[in-house]
Amino acid sequence: MASLIQIDRIQDYTGQEVRIEGWVYHKTHKGKLLFLLIRDGYGFVQCVAFKNDLPEELFQKILKIPQESSVVITGVVREDKRAPGIPGGFEIGITGFEVVHQSIDDYPVALKEHGVDFVLDHRHLWIRMPSQWAILRIRATVIQAIREWLDNNGFINMDTPILTPAACEGTTTLFETQYFDEGKAYLAQSGQLYNEANIFAFKKVYCFGPTFRAEKSKTRRHLTEFWMVEPEIAFCDLDQLMDIEEQFVTYIVKKVLIERKAELRSLNRDVAILEQIEPPFPRISYDQAVEILKEIYESNEDKDNRELLKFDWGMDFGSPHETALTEKFSKPVFVYGYPTQVKAFYMEPWQGRPEVSKSVDLLAPEGYGEIIGGSERISNPDLLLDRIRQHGLPENAFKWYLDLRKYGSVPHSGFGLGVERTVAWICGLHHIRETIPYPRTIKRIYP
Ligand code: 4AD
Ligand code: MG
Repeated sequence: MASLIQIDRIQDYTGQEVRIEGWVYHKTHKGKLLFLLIRDGYGFVQCVAFKNDLPEELFQKILKIPQESSVVITGVVREDKRAPGIPGGFEIGITGFEVVHQSIDDYPVALKEHGVDFVLDHRHLWIRMPSQWAILRIRATVIQAIREWLDNNGFINMDTPILTPAACEGTTTLFETQYFDEGKAYLAQSGQLYNEANIFAFKKVYCFGPTFRAEKSKTRRHLTEFWMVEPEIAFCDLDQLMDIEEQFVTYIVKKVLIERKAELRSLNRDVAILEQIEPPFPRISYDQAVEILKEIYESNEDKDNRELLKFDWGMDFGSPHETALTEKFSKPVFVYGYPTQVKAFYMEPWQGRPEVSKSVDLLAPEGYGEIIGGSERISNPDLLLDRIRQHGLPENAFKWYLDLRKYGSVPHSGFGLGVERTVAWICGLHHIRETIPYPRTIKRIYP
């Protein structure tokens, strides 16, 4: 029997008879030629049936097969530059065709354009489409790259709890639940505080898991459940943190370029822009960013959009500001030194400028905006206690956290990278919802 192959390795089998197990994605015919686009989970390949070469019964069976039927196909691999598919450039001349299951002939996610709500309601089927399939393959590679780089650079993985007794990133976006007789528990907004404990035992750590924010934001950058990797490093200041972040992000992009080029091409992503991503990334202060935004505001002639871009020192960037700022860049850009008032309670103040924090966000270029948020952490126990009080956080829940500043406190820093925003940027997508298999937003928890 012909050997079973994966479509993404088809180039190794030119001239050989092979077998693929998959599904019919699309079917067209031209006279005596029938073209099937078959997907097998690893790729999409064109399979061709020529009437004169096959028994009539078999040809008719192929002619009638509905979209999404599951099939096992045997055939000979040929190189043909014109053949569509992912990776494309090869086709299979059909010699055998078995139907495993004949699909019902009313497949809802057919090949025409559908509205956003329709495709999201059919997400369980939509993921079979080439664009969605490509995005989720890239997502898996981004996650693999994240773990690889951290594991190979002295970081140890520490799983932090999802059920937590207190907020980390502000009390306004908490999902809460009753925790037996112990009071309220909250779904984790971040594993950072636990990682700050972990570094005093392991020096460099990361947690990587789902993160929950009851964000009322309806932007194309926000989910209520997203995946975040959070590295934390002892004996590390803000400049060293930026050095780490740019190495890390460069590695992720390079790995995707090597392993998922066919998928990027299928999404029409301009890979040339990604190919020039190398350290160093530009580093600008928040103060400088404010100046740039003022210039953008003043030179904007579109009255309606202009007001959205108005910006004064002390504000946090909104989506329109991040878009405008990063449209000017082709590499990711660091913005450091945000106002203390717009950032979380745990950030170390700038020396001599307490209104500024030792924070840094990494903004993805081409209008994408923040993919990483990070900072140096407060190492002084008295200042930290003041901040916990100022932010109205429950002191009791933070007793353990204050201990970290009493026993061997050191300058330390860390950051969180959002997987979905990173994937949206690398894939060149407009909206973050396509970057996770089953997106959760304020208005969606189905399927
Ligand atoms: O800037 P954030 O809120 O930072 C933290 O949570 C820190 N505790 C991280 C740390 O220092 N350990 O979130 C970090 C990143 C953002 O840059 C963004 O990529 C992503 O997480 N993110 C979201 N992604 C999708 N939907 C949301 N609602 C997100 N909120 C944050
Ligand atoms: Mg942030």
